[in-house]
Amino acid sequence: MSNLIITGGSRLCGIIEVPGAKNSVLPVLAATLLNKGTSILENCPELDDVTTMLEILGALGCGIRRKGSRIEVDASQLTASSIPEELAKKMRSSIIILGSLLARCGEAYLSYPGGCEIGMRPIDMHLKALMQMGAQIDGISDGMLRCRAGKLTGCEILLDYPSVGATENIMLAASLAEGETIIQNAAKEPEIDDLQAFLRKMGINVSGAGTGVIRIQGAREIKGEPVHRIIPDRIVTGTYLAAAAATGGSLVVTNVIYDHVGSVLYCLKRCGCRIKNYSGNVIALESSGNLAALDLVRTSPYPGFPTDMQPQLVALLSKCKGTSVVVETVFENRFRYTEQLMKLGADISIQGRAAIIRGVDKLRGAQLEARDLRGGAALVIGALAAEGTSSISGVGYIDRGYERMEKVLAGVGANIKRVEA
Ligand code: UD1
Repeated sequence: MSNLIITGGSRLCGIIEVPGAKNSVLPVLAATLLNKGTSILENCPELDDVTTMLEILGALGCGIRRKGSRIEVDASQLTASSIPEELAKKMRSSIIILGSLLARCGEAYLSYPGGCEIGMRPIDMHLKALMQMGAQIDGISDGMLRCRAGKLTGCEILLDYPSVGATENIMLAASLAEGETIIQNAAKEPEIDDLQAFLRKMGINVSGAGTGVIRIQGAREIKGEPVHRIIPDRIVTGTYLAAAAATGGSLVVTNVIYDHVGSVLYCLKRCGCRIKNYSGNVIALESSGNLAALDLVRTSPYPGFPTDMQPQLVALLSKCKGTSVVVETVFENRFRYTEQLMKLGADISIQGRAAIIRGVDKLRGAQLEARDLRGGAALVIGALAAEGTSSISGVGYIDRGYERMEKVLAGVGANIKRVEA
């Protein structure tokens, strides 16, 4: 168990290279299961969830080679169709394997993912869609999911909500289903586009990612040698930019896609930051540290403001002059971290799904506990912007989404270190 010790007040200045997206590499790794050949992925982030996913693929019979940010998965011979419980429990997004495993093996066995720190995270839309394609699903009562499908058949599916995970699971299952699958009201997140790009490199006829209607023509078999570079992590990009904004810094982030962070940049600009975009993949931010509140921001599916940036924005707004309102519409329990921000002196009240943030002149260092990934990132931003020293426990949550955050931040001038508790 380790803690982050942060002494605030330093402006973040310098250059950060952003790694590949966690939320993209996980579904793409799930997709490698469809391929009776070797898939090569580049720009993969070095995160615990990625390691867990590789352990799951290994347990299913895949050969894995990993060197730095490059991963090779040889799924030519699968030997199992059940995901070991201890691995499935370690990573909620193990549900993303269901579609591939069912399509490739005709059966899948895994533990039912429970709730997590930010809400219930149901999977009803995933299961309903797979059943529409011909899967039989049972065993939910004992906490295990047993799924079988003699054959998956393409069909038209209307999602009640543009769920990222459900869209991915259907795309994966549909890739080896008979005939065409059409997903209506599909998620439009850039990670969906990245999954489509990878499926195409495996030879799948899939189109429409980003439009809300995705068409997938199922193949009988996939056997290829796709090489794919994972897109940059737009949430990591936004997090470091928000940290620079809160500290009155001047930061350049490289290996990013400008258009993927449009809604976040919009908010940062409205707060008073100056933003420059160089050739679409380098962004420079300058902040005076004297920023203004935002009257209303609502989280919503892409291209709206991402729920995964909501806590970091609230941390920034807690020092912006005036009153801001942030409404969380995607996950029901995503304001728990605000209690911790208040220990730093932030003035935040929660009314249902809205956080009302009255900007304060100063935050002061405190002992804090991270209880979820993005909430943890928000505490780091608060501590960087505070006077004095803070200690943050629960760093394991932060490590799930940020590679060596303390090294990255120290590299741009933060006074931050990791100590063993
Ligand atoms: C993914 C991301 C997560 C991000 C979220 C929204 C990964 C590994 N995780 O999560 O970081 O915060 O997208 O951008 O990529 N829902 C249902 N039934 C379902 C599925 C979802 O009711 O079957 C609801 C959820 O409770 C939530 C909403 O739909 O309110 C959005 O969830 P979804 O887009 O599915 O998020 P995830 O794929 O779990």
